[in-house]
Amino acid sequence: MEIVYNDEKKNLPIAQLHELFIAVGWSDSGELPDDMKAGFMQPWLHSTLVISAWDGDKLVGAVRVLSDTIFRSVIYDLLVLPEFQNKGIGTELVRRCIEHFPNSEWLVETTQDISGYYEKIGFKRATGAYLKIPCKLFANS
Ligand SMILES: CC(C)(COP(=O)(O)OP(=O)(O)OC[C@H]1O[C@@H](n2cnc3c(N)ncnc32)[C@H](O)[C@@H]1OP(=O)(O)O)[C@@H](O)C(=O)NCCC(=O)NCCS
Repeated sequence: MEIVYNDEKKNLPIAQLHELFIAVGWSDSGELPDDMKAGFMQPWLHSTLVISAWDGDKLVGAVRVLSDTIFRSVIYDLLVLPEFQNKGIGTELVRRCIEHFPNSEWLVETTQDISGYYEKIGFKRATGAYLKIPCKLFANS
């Protein structure tokens, strides 16, 4: 298995990207309704950087970054297909993100159970206040 990474393509194939979301439990199974397709792709198309991992034609991992490219960058939606996890793909996706904006501060918001993963690859727990206005599209965000 040779994994190939693409640092250029933002317009990932929607069906495969949605399959990735389903596989990690972030989306319900079934085809994405037509009226939701644009909204599903918008965050990827509008990200500063999208990096994807491929096994041949199969999308096996992806990550997106919003960045001012100098000072501050935020990682979103790092995900790897379960059957491809623990092979270094997630770490390589993050490494490539950082390589694009090497002097930047890097931030990620994640859950308690995933925070150990980021600590393992070099992130430090941030101190200070974390404030937000919740997204109106998600009841529990
Ligand atoms: C988190 C995720 C992206 C990691 O990708 P991956 O390709 O499996 O990661 P890697 O193979 O690069 O790294 C695996 C290493 O991290 C460790 N690891 C994985 N999840 C971990 C966790 N929650 N806490 C601590 N360590 C973790 C593994 O034990 C493994 O350690 P090893 O290298 O010593 O064997 C992947 O598990 C995933 O897609 N999870 C579901 C989506 C998700 O929660 N994404 C994060 C959103 S912020």
